[in-house]
Amino acid sequence: MTKTLVINYTPRNGSYTKILFDEFVKSARGKTELIHIDLSETPPDLLLVENLNLIMEWNKGKRYFSKSELSLLSNHHRYINQILEVDNIVVAFPIYNFTLPATVKAWIDAIVVSDKTFSFSPEIGFKGLCTNKKALSIIVSGFDYSNSDDVKEFASSTIKQNFDFMGITSEQILAFGVDQNRDRLDSILNKAKSEIKELVDSWFPN
Ligand SMILES: Cc1cc2nc3c(=O)[nH]c(=O)nc-3n(C[C@H](O)[C@H](O)[C@H](O)COP(=O)(O)O)c2cc1C
Repeated sequence: MTKTLVINYTPRNGSYTKILFDEFVKSARGKTELIHIDLSETPPDLLLVENLNLIMEWNKGKRYFSKSELSLLSNHHRYINQILEVDNIVVAFPIYNFTLPATVKAWIDAIVVSDKTFSFSPEIGFKGLCTNKKALSIIVSGFDYSNSDDVKEFASSTIKQNFDFMGITSEQILAFGVDQNRDRLDSILNKAKSEIKELVDSWFPN
């Protein structure tokens, strides 16, 4: 059976993103092994002085770390190992201030690591190392960006760019405009729910 990492950042009581995330989990249960992380309960460490400089040493080729260094990196290692051990990744989050919520960005900062999820060599350049995995992003926003030329969001392009960089083929299900079009909330959520069911059927055919 395949393994699917399901990640949500949905801290608001009554979160619409959580409703869509739960739809994925309900539809996929029994068809794949689900491994769950709630980023609002277990947030990734931010890149601060001690851990960032250890990661820079890793990037320069250091491979042996002391117990105390490993302990500083353990939070990041947990997220990297989860990515490496699964076939599929589903991440669900709302748009905050035109982009990814900081907690979701911190998760990306934790998992995009050289010689783990991507590699670099002068001859080949950058290469994604996760080419056998696929991903789905479920993204909810208050404003409907699909009908706007002057106001843009950077969440969907940022998450896709990072999946691409790691060699992961990704799809997106967007529920945009849930606050702007409150009168159409049910139809926006129902459309996203049916897209989720369709994707589950295509990812996990009987
Ligand atoms: C801190 C914060 C920042 C937000 N910034 C944006 C934004 O930039 N663009 C937008 O369309 N909606 C924004 N919203 C609205 C949310 O995307 C919208 O209410 C969404 O439903 C929240 O997801 P949830 O229902 O899962 O909590 C923001 C909400 C919060 C709490």
